[in-house]
Amino acid sequence: MTLPPAFMDALRARVAMPALVGRRVRLAKSGRQWKGCCPFHNEKSPSFYVYEDGFHCFGCGAHGDAIAFVMRTEGATFPEAVERLASEAGMEVPKASREDVVRESRARDLFAVMEAASETFGRRLRLPEGRAALDYLHRRGLTEDTIRGFGLGWSGPGRGSLVADLRDSGITTDQLLDCGLLKPAEDGKPLREAFWNRVMFPIRDRRARLIAFGGRVLGDGKPKYINSPETALFSKRRNLYGHDRARIAVHEGARLLVAEGYMDVIALHQAGFGGAVAPLGTALTEEQMAELWRMAPEPVLCFDGDTAGQRAAARAAETALPALTPEKLLRFATLPAGEDPDTLIGKGGPEAFRRVLDTSEPIEAVLFRLVQAEHPGTGPGPAAARERRLFEFAASIADKGLAHQFREEFKQRLRPPRPAFQPRAARARNNRFGPSTRVWDMPARPVISEAATRQEQARCLVALLLHHPTLLPDVEEALAGLDLPDGPAARLRPALLAWHATLDVLDPGRVLAHLTDLGLAGDAAATMSRAGLPAEVLADAQPAEAFSAFWHWLGLLQGRGEIQAALKAAERDFDLAPSGAEQVQKQALAKILGLRRAQVALFGGEGFGGDEEDA
Ligand code: UTP
Ligand code: MN
Repeated sequence: MTLPPAFMDALRARVAMPALVGRRVRLAKSGRQWKGCCPFHNEKSPSFYVYEDGFHCFGCGAHGDAIAFVMRTEGATFPEAVERLASEAGMEVPKASREDVVRESRARDLFAVMEAASETFGRRLRLPEGRAALDYLHRRGLTEDTIRGFGLGWSGPGRGSLVADLRDSGITTDQLLDCGLLKPAEDGKPLREAFWNRVMFPIRDRRARLIAFGGRVLGDGKPKYINSPETALFSKRRNLYGHDRARIAVHEGARLLVAEGYMDVIALHQAGFGGAVAPLGTALTEEQMAELWRMAPEPVLCFDGDTAGQRAAARAAETALPALTPEKLLRFATLPAGEDPDTLIGKGGPEAFRRVLDTSEPIEAVLFRLVQAEHPGTGPGPAAARERRLFEFAASIADKGLAHQFREEFKQRLRPPRPAFQPRAARARNNRFGPSTRVWDMPARPVISEAATRQEQARCLVALLLHHPTLLPDVEEALAGLDLPDGPAARLRPALLAWHATLDVLDPGRVLAHLTDLGLAGDAAATMSRAGLPAEVLADAQPAEAFSAFWHWLGLLQGRGEIQAALKAAERDFDLAPSGAEQVQKQALAKILGLRRAQVALFGGEGFGGDEEDA
């Protein structure tokens, strides 16, 4: 049975792997994947992993996709497995007509034609005629490895050069027309190459099949890029530049990033951000977003901070809204105005881009900012307009639960100020993205993002441990389980947690020297820089005070639910401490105080006595 690749792709996309496997294997979520005991060999501890698009057993090596899973667990043949999965997914298995069979084998041939063309472009880049193009790519900072890795090339001069290059391989002009490499003849004019005098960027699909090209002029000519037309192989709204490589990198732990241009993707990969992709000359489409979410639950979209860039960000946010679920979210990273990832990395190195990523914001924060910009001003009129618009956004989310959460977030953000006794930290943490003021008092300025707040909380927590490393043995378990935002604190944590193996004395100087050996001096310095750090985390704080502060910052980072549980445990420790175990009691008390301060901050003081105030 030969089924159209488009159908097979759609089927694989439609099947929810964890649900399918979950019927036979008890699965537990483990990071972004699921884990359970392998159904294909006998085991007691789970080494069977399930991903969105497949399974893998680290015990017996069994692996495959949904179809393979059904074939193996049910002894089904390939057509049977496809038939069953399709009917469960509400899809009709297309009857393979003679035409389909012909079309498919032709498509297979066309991929080969594309590869042959790409080879000649690559070869031409290394000939004297490609010299200027190769110099250009080097001038833009691309290494030989990158140029070869992305298969960049030079189109040649046109005027029949491509046809001549490929004639000996038996490739016909009809095939080149079908691939979009030749343009159909118009009123008597001869066939012409679609690309000439251009740097060639091969575009591959998620399975690394060569489906199209982008071609850039050298220098400033117009149009800057041209792309292959829509063909049997290529649909620009369904594919992403860099998809094949990013898929693997993301699977191995890279962050999924979306940039705007080909050169951005290439520069990002070269700088170590292997999870970068870009749309193909259009705004991000729904189909492309669906592809992104197959790879990661919260991709980061990168936009220029200038007006056009922010308009594009807003459009992307609106496109995404209906499809959002708790597992399909977006973050937005805003670059300095006038920069794209390529230029930013060119000027400031990977570090500069990493900093931008560290301050990325969740989609709801971006929507809020957008609405503030759309309806600035004071008074009930603009305030009502802002509210209406935000609630419309929330209402356009199809997932009921998430729509409700968004509405709650927006309400909180729009709510009048809380009583004056509220501690400062409480006001900052009151909602997911910033201090709350009466909405018509609000000037149209960027709000403090939740991301920035969490980043700062994480910095306080880790700065505290760098100043007071003797606390490590008592807090390591809590530290290990904490959800930290990407950034310096998260990068320093593993080194701190590994103190057993590497540090004999828990002394700040030794810790710092050790971090420096690990190449983390920059992160340590950024973390310890005095600006904004409260006294309780600095070196001259009393140990008990620092210990208490640890639980305060931990609590803020964890959120309300976890604090409640941790408090219960600490109170029990305190109550159960044997009389005379003064040290144990003291510790429990310091922990309770820290956690209660965090709780007060998060609840905004509701239901607590004045003795908790730290304002
Ligand atoms: P940019 O102009 O930001 O591209 O357009 P870039 O990749 O940063 O280009 P460099 O750095 O000047 O080489 C973003 C994307 O929009 C599409 C391309 O996909 C490009 O990568 N585009 C742009 C076109 O399709 N045609 C154009 O004329 C310009
Ligand atoms: Mn650019």
